[in-house]
Formats: sequence, C-alpha cells, structure tokens
Amino acid sequence: MAGIELKNIQKKYSVENRVINVLNGINLQIPRESITVILGRSGCGKTTLLRIVGGLEDADAGEMECDVEHKTTFVFQESRLMPWLNVWDNVKFGLKKQECDKMVIQSIIDTVGLHGFEKAYPNQLSGGMQQRTAIARALAYNPSFIMMDEPFAALDYFTREQMQKELIRLQRDRGVSILFVTHSIDEALLLGHKIVVIEGGQIKAEFMLKADNKERNLLEPEFIELKKNIIERLDL
Ligand SMILES: Nc1ncnc2c1ncn2[C@@H]1O[C@H](COP(=O)(O)OP(=O)(O)OP(=O)(O)O)[C@@H](O)[C@H]1O
Ligand SMILES: [Mg+2]
Repeated sequence: MAGIELKNIQKKYSVENRVINVLNGINLQIPRESITVILGRSGCGKTTLLRIVGGLEDADAGEMECDVEHKTTFVFQESRLMPWLNVWDNVKFGLKKQECDKMVIQSIIDTVGLHGFEKAYPNQLSGGMQQRTAIARALAYNPSFIMMDEPFAALDYFTREQMQKELIRLQRDRGVSILFVTHSIDEALLLGHKIVVIEGGQIKAEFMLKADNKERNLLEPEFIELKKNIIERLDL
C-alpha cells in the first residue's frame, strides 16, 4: 500500500544558543487509507513530525515522497475556532459556496454530538465541545488525508471513546488516510493500523495491527502483550 514516505528526516531547533535535535533521521512509510499513529512522550517531536508531513514546516534535511496529491486538513491540539463565528459557520469555514451542502454539514455536526448547538459561539462551549467543532470542520472539508494532533485530549472518557469509534467508522467508510498523534498507548491500540513509537528523535519501534472490522478489546491477551511491548520500547 503506497502513501507517504519519509526518508532520513532531520529537524533541529535553536532556542537561546541551545540546539535541540528534535528529529534525528526519521524513515517512515505512512500507508494510504489507514490510520497511522505516532506515539511518544511529551516533547519527543510528534507535533513537529506532523507539521513536516503536512507541509506546515520544512525539515532541515531528508526527503518526503507522496504517491498522490492529497487534500489535507489538520485537527490541532487546541481547537483554533473563529471566536466570532457560531458552530455552524465554523464548520463550514473554508468551504466554497458550492461545497456547502446543508444536509452534509448537519450530519457532521450530529456525528460529533453537537446537535442543538449550531448557533452557539465558541465562548459558549466547553473545551471538549470546541474540539468537537474543530473535528467537524475538518470532516466538512472532505479531506483524503487528515493530520490529527492529540485531537481527543480535551474530551472526557465517554466522549473520547465515542469519537474514537466515529473516527474508525469514518476511516473505513470514506477510505481516508489518517496520521494521528497521541501519547495514550490505549488510544494508539484502539485506533492504529500502524503504531510508530518515537523516542529521542528516532523511531524506536513500529507495530502493524490487523485491519479487520472487529471492535478491539484491549483486555484481550494480544493487546495486553502489545501494550507491554510498547511500554518497554518507551523506556517507561
Ligand atoms: N518553533 C519552535 N522553536 C523552538 N523549539 C521548538 C519549536 N517547536 C518545537 N520545539 C521544541 O521541539 C521539541 C519537540 O516539540 P513537539 O511540539 O514536536 O513535541 P510533542 O511530541 O508534540 O510534545 P507534546 O506531546 O507535549 O505535544 C520540544 O523540545 C520543543 O521545545
Ligand atoms: Mg505536540
């Protein structure tokens, strides 16, 4: 399965004469039409890697190859909504007039559980609701590639679980490609077709998981084993 290929990606930042080597030679294949999860502790370079893949940031060295032109969109760690627009207008923000299908927008708003809040402004929403609006905005754009940077971190356990299921369904139904950043091992195990563990600016391990339609039960022995394996690789 082709997709995006990263070859020897390097990135460093300088902060007050101190050089931080964030990415130290990342070689990674991101398969098309599946969920690739980047997993690693805070500050290990996950967001930096996502921004480089999404073209928001340049690498210092290395190459990136892409087999097809993707329609890419982001869901960031924070919601980044327009405070002067209500939920409905935030969701359709960025769409051309001819792309605004009211039924589609309504169904996306329903999917993220914001039915009845279409007219609410961001400052009238909880943090989780703001983040769900941002997710709806990304979906309305009908992307072929979604970059998601810890998109569910602000959500409570139940909403998070519901959104994870929705994301799996969406990926399956629309065949989108997703690059998903998290520091939650359980979230990685629930969502990932491929899990990439990053530590010290390098890929420590990669795990391929079965892409069947079965809902995963993390209490099953294979997932417990995988979790132990990941924890070992993260040097926890
Ligand atoms: N624009 C920047 N200028 C200087 N340093 C930066 C910049 N962006 C990131 N860094 C540094 O790069 C390192 C990796 O940051 P990054 O945001 O990629 O981490 P992360 O894995 O996404 O962490 P988190 O899980 O906390 O979001 C950090 O040490 C950070 O201080
Ligand atoms: Mg980050």
